Amino acid sequence: MNAIEVQDLYKSYDGTQAVNGISFEIGYGELFGFLGPNGAGKTTTISILCTLLKPTSGRAFVAGLDAGKESDKIREHIGLVFQETTLDNELTTFENLLFHAYLYGMTRSDAIGRIDELLSMIGLQNKKNELVKHLSGGMKRRLELIRGLLHRPRVLFLDEPTIGLDPQTRANVWNFIKEMKRMEGTTIFVTTHYIEEASDFDRIAIIDHGRIVAVGNPQRLINEMGKATVTFGATDSATVQTLLGYGMADLGSGRYEIRTEDPDLFLKQVMNRSGLKIDDFRINKPVLEEVYIALTGSEIRDEYVDRPASRKGRHR
Ligand SMILES: Nc1ncnc2c1ncn2[C@@H]1O[C@H](COP(=O)(O)OP(=O)(O)O)[C@@H](O)[C@H]1O
Ligand SMILES: [Mg+2]
Repeated sequence: MNAIEVQDLYKSYDGTQAVNGISFEIGYGELFGFLGPNGAGKTTTISILCTLLKPTSGRAFVAGLDAGKESDKIREHIGLVFQETTLDNELTTFENLLFHAYLYGMTRSDAIGRIDELLSMIGLQNKKNELVKHLSGGMKRRLELIRGLLHRPRVLFLDEPTIGLDPQTRANVWNFIKEMKRMEGTTIFVTTHYIEEASDFDRIAIIDHGRIVAVGNPQRLINEMGKATVTFGATDSATVQTLLGYGMADLGSGRYEIRTEDPDLFLKQVMNRSGLKIDDFRINKPVLEEVYIALTGSEIRDEYVDRPASRKGRHR
């Protein structure tokens, strides 16, 4: 059994088809990203998995338990970090965490040890006795993150955990999440629309209009979806003739370029020809963002096609 199994899930709010027939599995210990633009159905899906919302039809299993029938048991095994904060501002950091630990039936000594461990991992040890209302937004988000992990859930659900955070806090949050996955084997289901943050996840699903439009390892999606660009510099006329013979385009200033699905193979072919005088080559692989835009946003994709120069510029 997988950590999460979703079978043909639908959810409609009178008139709106928020989730429109999705199926996927997540293995234990995976860091899985659910990516999509606003209104795609991410929060609806995560709410069904967390048993906060009932699907219109279809089934979902979390930690081997049926989300439709065993919601109380599922809640023992999961941790939640949602977009809107649910901390008690009038309590201290420590009190917020201890209250949560009691809700989950942890013993006081276990809770205290775990709180100290997590506070120092996330860098909030010096805020332990501070009232939460005096913490910054980034600190509150980090506090919610460790609260979600306090009772050692098997699956952690995060809905847009880095939205609105500064780059340093975002990096801190991701490092911590990956550390927990590595140290405790926690399965992590995370929604985000910061595509680039998902490039080193184990797998991602791209969701749009309530449907999954792609699923897989992000690097593999990049390789499958996007063409890379290979660029050579050459001035020797025989070399230039050979490069043009390979179908490379003349960019001017002695540079030649080709778009290809297999840049490594192309490079190998050219490099194996003897007598070529190439002074520089570059491979620009597409980024995940381009895969995402190609699948979800035709307006943005058209804009990108009109401005190929800016795309190349980003990689240099
Ligand atoms: N409680 C609700 N009542 C009616 N429509 C809703 C409700 N929640 C979400 N929706 C609609 O369902 C669609 C998916 O929303 P949501 O799951 O929140 O998307 P995401 O989290 O990807 O932005 C959107 O069109 C949204 O307007
Ligand atoms: Mg949402």
